[in-house]
Amino acid sequence: MENLIALGEKYVMNTYKRLPHVLVKGSGSYVWDSEGRKFLDFVSGIAVNSLGHCPQVVTEAIKEQAEKLIHCSNLYWIEPQIKLAKLLVEKSCCDKAFFCNSGTEANEAAIKLARKWGQGRYEIISMEKSFHGRTLGSLAATGQAKYQEAFKPLPAGFKYVPFNDLEALEAAITPETCAVMLECIQGEGGVNVPEPGYLEGVQEICRKNNLLLILDEVQTGLGRTGKAFAYQHFNLSPDIITLAKALGGGVPIGAMLAKDEVAKAFQPGDHAATFGGNPLATAAALAACSVLLDEEFIVEVAKKGEYLKGELEKLKAEFPQIIKVKGLGLMVGCELNTDALPIVESCMQKGVLINAVGGNILRFVPALTVTKAEIDQLVSTLKEALSESGK
Ligand SMILES: Cc1ncc(COP(=O)(O)O)c(C=O)c1O
Repeated sequence: MENLIALGEKYVMNTYKRLPHVLVKGSGSYVWDSEGRKFLDFVSGIAVNSLGHCPQVVTEAIKEQAEKLIHCSNLYWIEPQIKLAKLLVEKSCCDKAFFCNSGTEANEAAIKLARKWGQGRYEIISMEKSFHGRTLGSLAATGQAKYQEAFKPLPAGFKYVPFNDLEALEAAITPETCAVMLECIQGEGGVNVPEPGYLEGVQEICRKNNLLLILDEVQTGLGRTGKAFAYQHFNLSPDIITLAKALGGGVPIGAMLAKDEVAKAFQPGDHAATFGGNPLATAAALAACSVLLDEEFIVEVAKKGEYLKGELEKLKAEFPQIIKVKGLGLMVGCELNTDALPIVESCMQKGVLINAVGGNILRFVPALTVTKAEIDQLVSTLKEALSESGK
């Protein structure tokens, strides 16, 4: 393992702070490292492995498709792409899908579509503490200076207002504004849940000012929050929805969905992605989504999310380090009054993978197939880690 890590440090670009384990295999909620150590995985590739590791329905679909057609150009029709678009449209309030390869690319597509629809209006208002990706357009939409500083100048036309502040949003609108873009629950920004009525208020402001409502559901989408799409917890009908992460069951794929009225602004030549929606990725995504968007499956996610939050609330009553338990469905955060990293490392030593956002927030995004026993394992490990870190 040490040799491999040394090779990695020599040859792989230094863009991640990696933990010192080489992961070699996964099954369900578990992964194994190259030394044979088994870990319960509550990171799930950061909300990607929603069906767990190597779900049979996805691996079978990949194998089958790989023997038929792996890639062909979007100059031709591709059956699994059409079927996937139909499924996503039927389960959402949108009418058309565009496929790409990642969350940031889905947001780039949304930004371009909003600008084209805006016919000269180009400004997009997003939220402080948001996260929309690392390519320059999505980075410009991301309301966190720490990600932007070293890469200026960023594309113009982006403004940020505080999440949960409708007055600030209204005040930021100018004749150039074409859209408001936000996450229903801010993921990387700290698992921040909106106040009651806030998202409906944002929609009302959009309607009143003829602005598009773009919801970034890259992290919250496809069952994660206990609904097919997080917006369905609220009285919302977004104009554009972006997806990635869980969409492909682990295979890279992103999507931008839009209502017809908006989608028609794009004409051939306006936007494209060579690999976007290719047969292999869309076959995997179709298989993954056939489970992820199943209503009974999603009901179970909501129940398990409530159970996880309830157990964390019990820990909160016992450990003053926990100041807040927050989230929806199986997208859950635990805000601490101390640095979260030592707790993450301690849990890892005890065989459980979790991660931290915003410095002091533990984030739990397990496979949506997680069992009650696995949730209990997480909670007892966390309890041990918190006890050791001092009551
Ligand atoms: C809400 C949200 N949008 C966009 C992205 C970017 O996705 P990707 O890393 O696939 O580009 C992320 C990634 O964490 C995200 O959480």
